[in-house]
Amino acid sequence: MTTSKPQGVEMFSLAGKSVLLTGAGGAIGGVLARSLAACGATLGLQDLEESKVTGLATEIRANGGSASTFAADLSGTDACTTLVAEAHAAMGGLNVLINCAGINRRKPIDDVTPDDFDAIVAVNMRAVFFLSQAVHPIMKAQGGGTIVNISSLSARYSFNTISVYAATKAAVTSMTRSFAREWVADGIRVNCIEPAVVQTEFTAPLWDDPKRSVWFKEFTPMGRLAQPHELVGAVIYLASEASSYVTGQSITIEGGILSGADWDSNQGD
Ligand SMILES: NC(=O)c1ccc[n+]([C@@H]2O[C@H](COP(=O)([O-])OP(=O)(O)OC[C@H]3O[C@@H](n4cnc5c(N)ncnc54)[C@H](O)[C@@H]3O)[C@@H](O)[C@H]2O)c1
Repeated sequence: MTTSKPQGVEMFSLAGKSVLLTGAGGAIGGVLARSLAACGATLGLQDLEESKVTGLATEIRANGGSASTFAADLSGTDACTTLVAEAHAAMGGLNVLINCAGINRRKPIDDVTPDDFDAIVAVNMRAVFFLSQAVHPIMKAQGGGTIVNISSLSARYSFNTISVYAATKAAVTSMTRSFAREWVADGIRVNCIEPAVVQTEFTAPLWDDPKRSVWFKEFTPMGRLAQPHELVGAVIYLASEASSYVTGQSITIEGGILSGADWDSNQGD
């Protein structure tokens, strides 16, 4: 059977695609935004405050790209639906949603307050649900679209002090499967990435701590943390036509952590 679909690097192109990226002002969001723009995407950059994304948008436009900015506190359902409507209108379309906004409050389980619990669930889980729900009619009407969720390795491999965060990321991975199954007939693909610890400001309390930084060297087969640019390839793949037969999947980006252990090391001693 022959196909007229792109065969080479052009299948990774996002030219003509409007992409809404949440948490674009963060460490990972900023790196993703620059790469998505380099692949030709028209970008809608959201963060809590517009000032967190205006410099990024200016830089992207100066390099010949297209980017508009949006301020929204995604812990509210109305803010999610308003953001989607505004971004759709401003970009003249909406082909890809990347749910990247996320928070954590690292605490032992005994110290977690109801406010901690609700705040983490609101951004990491509720917003992913209701942003996706809001893009559904738009993508369905246009015959398809893609959603890429930034989950976490903690969805399947936990550490102490991240019980609520890990639960929300397991929910994100689970929603990825549910949404993919329910919307496949609408031409909408839904996938996620599950990165291990990425060296960003968000994780400084982990890698900046002498004891914990030793853990990353000893227990990660690659012997180091991920850098933000190491998430880009998987996100471009999942957002683009390159992954046209892939839905409901999680790509772990973890330096080999899940591959197993070394009998001859001191791991577990
Ligand atoms: N850094 C890591 O090690 C790591 C590992 C796995 C997954 N992740 C995930 O990657 C994503 C990005 O993480 P990061 O390291 O860039 O963190 P970051 O803190 O640098 O960026 C997160 C962004 O989300 C925004 N945000 C927070 N609350 C919001 C709200 N209520 N409404 C709207 N925006 C809000 C923040 O302003 C920030 O710009 C998160 O979902 C995180 O859980 C990070």
